[in-house]
Amino acid sequence: METTLIILKPDAVQRGLMGRIISRFEDKGLQVVGCKLMKISQELAAEHYKDHAGKPFYDGLVRFMTGAPVLVMAVRGIGAIAISRSMMGATFGSKAAGGTIRGDFGVSNSFNLIHGSDSPEAAQRELGLFFKDGEVLDYERAMSQWVYDYSSGSPE
Ligand code: RTP
Ligand code: MG
Repeated sequence: METTLIILKPDAVQRGLMGRIISRFEDKGLQVVGCKLMKISQELAAEHYKDHAGKPFYDGLVRFMTGAPVLVMAVRGIGAIAISRSMMGATFGSKAAGGTIRGDFGVSNSFNLIHGSDSPEAAQRELGLFFKDGEVLDYERAMSQWVYDYSSGSPE
């Protein structure tokens, strides 16, 4: 099982899209194992986006991400990182395919609703930035036997 960091960005929160976006992850069968509303500090934004420091869009990105509350989630499943990235779609809604979150809910070339970790290393680093020990929970879902095929002994 893989766990990834998803952030519903300020535009998703302000536009009242949290429920519909969370539902897409639940509908897919992925498990929400951590979730909180928070305001991202300058320091946290700088750490989270340190690979983008110095790029032309960096200052605007940090201003956007720190300007209003976000909802952060830890989302778990087999292949959760790649599955979440494909559910999100291309970086901006103007280019993202229909059926993806960015493709269905946005048109902007700046505001883009959602962040998802792009590798196992990034997921581990980013989950550690946004969640303290004990805030990501291991728990069994009643429906888990129908989300994965456990007949071989391990989830398929
Ligand atoms: P994210 O990290 O937020 O999941 O998005 P991503 O992988 O699709 O995009 P990435 O290249 O990592 O860029 C991080 C965020 O920076 C903003 N951005 N603006 N104006 C621009 O050219 C530009 N490029 C990137 C977006 O908010 C993007 O999500
Ligand atoms: Mg990225």
